[in-house]
Amino acid sequence: MNEIQVRQAGPADADEVRRLVAELTPATAHLRFFTGVGTPTAGFVAALLRRDETHGAWVCASGNRLVGHVSWAYDSGAAEVGVVVADAWQRRGLGRSLVAAALDEAARAGLTDVRLHVHPENGWLARRLSRGATTAVLADGMVTVTRPLADLLASAPATPAVPSDPSPLIMQEWGSWLAPVPA
Ligand SMILES: CC(C)(COP(=O)(O)OP(=O)(O)OC[C@H]1O[C@@H](n2cnc3c(N)ncnc32)[C@H](O)[C@@H]1OP(=O)(O)O)[C@@H](O)C(=O)NCCC(=O)NCCS
Repeated sequence: MNEIQVRQAGPADADEVRRLVAELTPATAHLRFFTGVGTPTAGFVAALLRRDETHGAWVCASGNRLVGHVSWAYDSGAAEVGVVVADAWQRRGLGRSLVAAALDEAARAGLTDVRLHVHPENGWLARRLSRGATTAVLADGMVTVTRPLADLLASAPATPAVPSDPSPLIMQEWGSWLAPVPA
């Protein structure tokens, strides 16, 4: 039985993050990275795992396999967030759980706004995030949405949705997934 867990990323996740990105469908990789990535380089993976005062990285694991990733980075007063969920795991609440984890951490780092770069082909997401945003600008081939971080945190569910496939799963308690990974 696999357990779904959203937790802080660490250096030991490099191989799984590389596999996760390499196995994304071209469409999903394009929506996340705006370009074909293929198998990411070590530097690319290190950037996805960067954690310091101005960066955070979280992963969603099903047992030993990573099925989602989110990172945030300080960008002109806001937390710029990028998130991706493996194709077979989308629409089960994992994206929201990842974003909530990243935003909670960014808020604790003192940031009050969130910024997301959304591909214009990602119409449902651009519309959803733009509703009520402080600014939503289409430029340079992307929709850049900036809004108070509290907006998205407030709408996070108490628990991620429980996936029914592809295997029986036990969701970790919501209260515990925010706990920092012991050093
Ligand atoms: C965006 C993404 C991370 C969402 O992850 P997810 O795990 O599928 O999303 P969730 O299941 O948590 O759903 C969150 C909400 O979005 C909605 N949603 C998800 N996919 C959707 C779709 N294709 N069409 C319409 N709504 C969708 C869900 O219904 C849910 O709505 P609710 O909160 O009102 O119930 C995922 O689709 C993905 O990896 N996309 C490619 C990369 C990308 O676009 N990243 C964002 C830009 S950085």
